[in-house]
Amino acid sequence: MTQQHLSVLQREVLHYFSDSLCKIFVDGTLGAGGHSKAMLEAHPEIEKLVGIDQDPLALEIARERLKPWEDKVQLIRGNFASIKTLLNRHGIKTINGLLLDIGVSSMQLDRPEKGFSFMRDGPLDMRMDPDQPLTAAEIVNTWSERDLGVILRDYGEEKQWRALARALVEARQNFQITTTMQLSEVLMPLLGWRKGKGLHPLTLVFQALRICVNDELGVLAKILPDALDLLAPGGRLAIISFHSLEDRIVKNAFRDAASDKEDYDHGLEGLFIDKVPLVKVLTRKPAIAMEDEIMQNPRSRSAKLRVVEKLEVKGVK
Ligand SMILES: C[S@@+](CC[C@H](N)C(=O)[O-])C[C@H]1O[C@@H](n2cnc3c(N)ncnc32)[C@H](O)[C@@H]1O
Repeated sequence: MTQQHLSVLQREVLHYFSDSLCKIFVDGTLGAGGHSKAMLEAHPEIEKLVGIDQDPLALEIARERLKPWEDKVQLIRGNFASIKTLLNRHGIKTINGLLLDIGVSSMQLDRPEKGFSFMRDGPLDMRMDPDQPLTAAEIVNTWSERDLGVILRDYGEEKQWRALARALVEARQNFQITTTMQLSEVLMPLLGWRKGKGLHPLTLVFQALRICVNDELGVLAKILPDALDLLAPGGRLAIISFHSLEDRIVKNAFRDAASDKEDYDHGLEGLFIDKVPLVKVLTRKPAIAMEDEIMQNPRSRSAKLRVVEKLEVKGVK
């Protein structure tokens, strides 16, 4: 392990759970366990804290860090997309709080063998779960020009998606692109250094591949209804996202769950029916990092935290 991961928006997360009774709390993206540790310190009423991560190394690091609370802590290796199944296996049917701090950790970014970073040479891997079959190398070397273009456009919002997809397909006719440096050598001549722009030119390409390899938007969309269902009345769901694609999914899901109207025909005829709101939104605007945090941890600059609270619904659990 290189750099310890600095938990993002920790102050704000603690604030949104401060007046909440967190008997059973789930950290769905345990990472180095920083948020879990802070919650355990601030909430002595926690009877069980479940920490989920798909990266075995993260679980190992967090296990050490959370040792003082080992009687209360249950660590589970798995994808949060299957949260209901994972919790059911441990007899948990309702929870009082859930935190998702999505994306990769600094520890993952810093490990060259994971291939997440264009700053270090390493295999084009990008899997958070080392046992899943799909790697970034497989995508880059076998997917069609059209499919490569679509992920660069939709997951990277990269303006040059067409040209970049073509360059990858042309390059792989001569050699397999298996490392982060080879990917960089193929694409940098097209991207060039955009003078004065903050982002490294390869940022969006790496973002697109990472999102695709780990199906990051798919798992987020999948957990949201299950998470809301698992929450007991008064329970809270807090989600930290790092780019607009994720934040949009969270914002829309929270807005729909808080609404007393349901779009009956998906906007076709503008037909809405009444429904009972499931949650109230506690963050009208997302919470973002303050200057002092950004100075200490520049990665926090793009973080957005949104929180909802489950409402009491008469006749329902
Ligand atoms: C940003 S880090 C979390 C850091 C943590 N909050 C802390 O304070 O140390 C995200 C972690 O979530 C894990 N992760 C991301 N998506 C996941 C998913 N779908 N299922 C399980 N774990 C996931 C990653 O492996 C990574 O360890």
